[in-house]
Amino acid sequence: MRQKKNKFYITTPIYYVNASPHIGHSYTNIAADTLARAMRHSLGEKITGEKVWFLTGSDEHGQKIQRAADEAKMSPQEFVDKVVVQFKALWGELGISNNDFIRTTEERHRRTVERVLSILFARGDIYRSQYEGLYCTPCETFWLESQAAGQICPECKRPVEKIAETSYFFRMSAYQQRLIDHLKASPRFVEPRIRYNEVFSFLTMNTLTDLCISRPKGRLSWGIPLPFDPDHVTYVWFDALINYISAVGTFGEDDQYRSSWWNPETEIVQLIGKDIVRHHAVYWPIMLMALGINLPDTIVAHGWWMIGEDKMSKSRGNAVSPSAVVEKFGIDVYRYFLLRDVPFGTDGNFSEEALVRRFNGDLANDLGNLVYRTLTMVEKYFQGVVPPAGIPAGRAAEIYEKLRLLPGAVSERLSCDGDFNFSAALEKIWEVIAYANKYVEETKPWNLAKENKTEELKSFIRLLVDVIRAASAELEPFMPATAASIKEQLGADTVRKGKPLFPRII
Ligand code: MSP
Repeated sequence: MRQKKNKFYITTPIYYVNASPHIGHSYTNIAADTLARAMRHSLGEKITGEKVWFLTGSDEHGQKIQRAADEAKMSPQEFVDKVVVQFKALWGELGISNNDFIRTTEERHRRTVERVLSILFARGDIYRSQYEGLYCTPCETFWLESQAAGQICPECKRPVEKIAETSYFFRMSAYQQRLIDHLKASPRFVEPRIRYNEVFSFLTMNTLTDLCISRPKGRLSWGIPLPFDPDHVTYVWFDALINYISAVGTFGEDDQYRSSWWNPETEIVQLIGKDIVRHHAVYWPIMLMALGINLPDTIVAHGWWMIGEDKMSKSRGNAVSPSAVVEKFGIDVYRYFLLRDVPFGTDGNFSEEALVRRFNGDLANDLGNLVYRTLTMVEKYFQGVVPPAGIPAGRAAEIYEKLRLLPGAVSERLSCDGDFNFSAALEKIWEVIAYANKYVEETKPWNLAKENKTEELKSFIRLLVDVIRAASAELEPFMPATAASIKEQLGADTVRKGKPLFPRII
């Protein structure tokens, strides 16, 4: 197991604000939020932002944005100012606890990007040359001949264009071996394993070409001008990746980057979708190496939310708005479904039927039922006062042992060693819930009451209360409002029964 660090920095991709956010975008932020909350808890954060820093933001430059702005007949700045509001509002609505939100049009970001460009240009890691290649405009990505078979973009399947122009290049090739060595030494650098293998074979089977990091102003003006050649703007990806350091630190006079979050003493975890692995696991670490900055600990790539056979995306016209789902089912149900239904890393199919199935099964029947029946019994048999614990034996002792092991089991699954498997972590919590429900059916506490077995009944009900308290403490990072509601109802010595948490949807 890697040595634990006592600070944690987690990032999400910064989203293109060319259209409204959809379920896919919200997935990364909900996952990151869950990890941030779990880490705040496990590192014992007392003051907000003391031990955990959670960054998200918006990617506001480049051709995609310029085009969307043109279509909306607005200036790019006006356009992004308008769309970014929707992203910020959604994160608020979903209870996302990010500590900061970075926009690439902010001054603090522009200054850092200019600094990075100047440093790398002065060192010879950025140089001027002529570019000839295949470019996919919608994806803003250059492809090798071998990748764009038939001159078709492998990502979006649209035709690529052959381009020749004066450009600036980032000398990635010089760092290829160092990155391979790093991957060999850090098998957890990219998660899950399938993505690590992809990156590893990409690096070992191809010779890296230098990355074109500029666009002539004539073709694209919406970007950060190169400080050493104002006729060119920075390639949107080179600009965007820098957000992870521009938001949390600065370069000193000595060209050294300093940050209280991006440093070797902090565990740095970067969540991304599997579509942007190459940018994050190849370009980005090489940029950091060239700048003499430490690499992140882990880049975790999740799968896609699909609608039938297609990836959910604005361009495919199948985007589902998170707000619509939340309005109908509630925030926590939405969060639960996304994190529970598929293991992180795997593609998932989004459908309301699947969500209702999870709702009625896991939430209404299992969790909701356990809480409601327990509260009802505390009221009915003990006038609402939680009875004291007995001395557990047999099944009860077994359940208490499970409760003791639960926090470790959950945090293990939420760590690098557990492949950040949110679904498996939830499964662990549900195991205890299911066990307790089964125990209720077997023990039939109503019979204990009838037979006046008061002591047995007391310790039995107390056991159920303890199961709920333990489960809801573990549930907090996933379903903060539900955990709070359970705490409100069952946290004190005297219970306060509310409405059922998850009334079944017929
Ligand atoms: N702006 C770049 C990222 C720059 S990071 C320095 C970008 N933006 S994006 O808005 O197109 O997509 C960003 C991320 O949204 C994806 O990597 C992924 O995390 C998430 N998703 C977008 N569509 C998705 C699905 N259908 N399913 C799951 N996640 C998806 O790329």
